Amino acid sequence: MTETYRELHRPQFHFSARKNWINDPNGLVFQDGTWHLYFQHNPKSTVWGNMTWGHAVSDDLIHWKQLDHAMYPDEHGTMFSGSAVIDHENTAGFGAGAIVFLYTAAGRHVDPTREFTQCLAWSTDNGTTLTKYEGNPVLEWIEGDNRDPKVSWHEASGKWIMPLYLADDRYSLYGSKDLKSWSHLQDLRLEGDRECPDFFPLKDESGEERWVFWGANGFYQVGRFDGTEFMAETPVLACENGRNGYAAQTWSNVPDGRCIQISWMAGGHFPEMPFNHQMSIPVTLELVGSGRDVLLRRWPVREVKSLRVREVRLASTTIEPGSPIVPDTAAKLMDVSFTVKRGDRQALIVNIRGQALTFNWDKDEMRFAAGQAPGMVKGRKSTQLPDGDLLDVRLLIDRTSVEVFLNGGEVSASYCFLPSA
Ligand code: FRU
Repeated sequence: MTETYRELHRPQFHFSARKNWINDPNGLVFQDGTWHLYFQHNPKSTVWGNMTWGHAVSDDLIHWKQLDHAMYPDEHGTMFSGSAVIDHENTAGFGAGAIVFLYTAAGRHVDPTREFTQCLAWSTDNGTTLTKYEGNPVLEWIEGDNRDPKVSWHEASGKWIMPLYLADDRYSLYGSKDLKSWSHLQDLRLEGDRECPDFFPLKDESGEERWVFWGANGFYQVGRFDGTEFMAETPVLACENGRNGYAAQTWSNVPDGRCIQISWMAGGHFPEMPFNHQMSIPVTLELVGSGRDVLLRRWPVREVKSLRVREVRLASTTIEPGSPIVPDTAAKLMDVSFTVKRGDRQALIVNIRGQALTFNWDKDEMRFAAGQAPGMVKGRKSTQLPDGDLLDVRLLIDRTSVEVFLNGGEVSASYCFLPSA
């Protein structure tokens, strides 16, 4: 048997569980030098089910250590997605600095007569032991399979804010002073999206605080939030343009003010592996522009650089059709950067271990591995290329994934693949 973490299709610089199924990142929080990554996990099998919170920690967002599972199914339900905050002011009464978790108990999955409710857990030992609140649930069932609470703090109104997914493309915002009693603020829609909301503040380029409302597919709207009502000021925009980036969540309590996000790479294939699925590389989100002309830029965290062991530089050159450039390296794990000038060419094709990443200017699209069966996520087969004659490209290539960042991250896309032998 292959040694754990050395298996054929094991991602090398992306998080995957020691064994069995994972999906969404959950409870992302930083405390006392530790980045916590809880995650949706089936501890019993490589397919979805028995939802339990797995747990991993890191001190650099890149090297992860998996710890004991953090929350198991109980009488309220199986443990669906949720989030975590640090309660600095002890608003909930578990102690100043307690980590407070809000998550969904998927009632129907333990008892057909039970609904989905929102529950609370807390930890006072830096996320090692999660104690479920005896007064659970803190938010009763509203409709359908309502789920995925993601809490953040709204400074100006001094309250906690929680978006919740309802059904179709509908969500609600809730507010609370103590994380235990929640009142309804607003109903919202995010066209084309569903599940796993995130709602977080970011400064735009004019220095103004804006709020981003985000869904599992990686669509979002930027707007203003006064503590009661979110007013979208942009159309629905796409940040994640790939077919495999899903259910992203941002970390809370990040020490240096960065907005850091990680997503589940849904729809990968890991045949004969003891584990199933991987996370994305953590990325920093920033707002470019201001007013209505504003968008998110998504870029790998700077810590990724610590993984580089060798640099291969290519001189600037003209690529002639039929004469590909072949970098002088046998490395399979790469952080590739280049700028390409289109000139009068139709397309540029990058061959990544037998899979074609095509920048097709004639069709105004980027497409990865067109021949491969798409994963479960999103119908999107291609994405529009940014305007201009010059295109900046960065690729993070691991054994079973490629993440594409164009023009400094103004367009990004995550893809899973199964390398050819
Ligand atoms: C998204 C999702 C969430 C849910 C979780 C269950 O991938 O469907 O809405 O909480 O997965 O595992």
